[in-house]
Amino acid sequence: MLGSEYNLGRFPVTRMRRNRRDDWNRRLVAENTLTAGDFILPVFVHDSDDASVDIPSLPGIQRHSIDALVDRAGQAKELGIPVIAVFPATDPSLKDAEGSESVNPDNLVCRSVRAIKSAHPELGVMCDVALDPFTDHGHDGLLRDGYVVNDETLDVLTRQAVVQADAGCNVISPSDMMDGRVGAIRTALDGAGHDAVRILAYSAKYASALYGPFRDAVGSAPNLAGGDKKTYQMDPANSDEAMREVAMDITEGADMVMVKPGIFYLDIVRRVKDQFGMPTYAYQVSGEFAMMKGAAMNGWLDWDRVIVESLLAFKRAGADGVLTYAAIEVAERLKSG
Ligand code: PBG
Repeated sequence: MLGSEYNLGRFPVTRMRRNRRDDWNRRLVAENTLTAGDFILPVFVHDSDDASVDIPSLPGIQRHSIDALVDRAGQAKELGIPVIAVFPATDPSLKDAEGSESVNPDNLVCRSVRAIKSAHPELGVMCDVALDPFTDHGHDGLLRDGYVVNDETLDVLTRQAVVQADAGCNVISPSDMMDGRVGAIRTALDGAGHDAVRILAYSAKYASALYGPFRDAVGSAPNLAGGDKKTYQMDPANSDEAMREVAMDITEGADMVMVKPGIFYLDIVRRVKDQFGMPTYAYQVSGEFAMMKGAAMNGWLDWDRVIVESLLAFKRAGADGVLTYAAIEVAERLKSG
């Protein structure tokens, strides 16, 4: 039984190593592959004349001016990367308790989207919906008596989604983990004539220790000041709960779903893909990138090999694509063979 199912044989007739012997044979039996089409490139933008500024906790990654961002977008497009995700580092003077700047149609992210879409209309542009780049307390929603309130936050999030869609954003990506946000955003987008705008929901998003460098990059770390997001992001102990989150987002109208972080949560990626068969993405988050990069900079790991191996792991786990800060360099390498 087992034998026929798995094509098992007995040594020495069956030698598993025969198919590993030559490069052509290894390529022939490869079950998964990476292509530029698998990547979503997250990019950081700032309102500054400095074209690009390094982010110390994300070595090799920069905050860009809008002009530099448009160049980066062009590079991504040339390489066949389908989508870029734009994250704003908001000027601290524009942050307030209500995250008002998030709904300003001329905010940094909306100006960036307009600039990218006018230069590269065929490139997909994705934007987060969440208040953390805009609030002076660093939370993804509105704080009332020290608690992030759900339903009142939805009002702001839906307005944020609509201004971003008005600016030309193709994919709205709620990363806030409020209950009911996907349904509320879908209704708001449709009501504003944006029925073609897609929703890629951060459905299973965990309260992870791996977001630190991202919070440095967008400048929300000092605002959050050591606080955490455990009352809205998921407990890393849970897996069944992730299935319920994904199921709700699908029911509310998500077109695509995401698991975040990535490498520590590949079991969730596999369960989501098997159970729902949805277009499923994983976010190789800032802390994952920094761990591998830091080790490589110390000479402890071979960066070129470890980054490709990590990305292939997402495909093997069932992901249709990966958000990765390494998208451009890996796509370049795939192109040159
Ligand atoms: C905002 C958001 C975060 C990330 C993506 N969108 C940070 C957070 O939830 O605190 C993290 C991405 C990364 O670490 O690379 N809600």
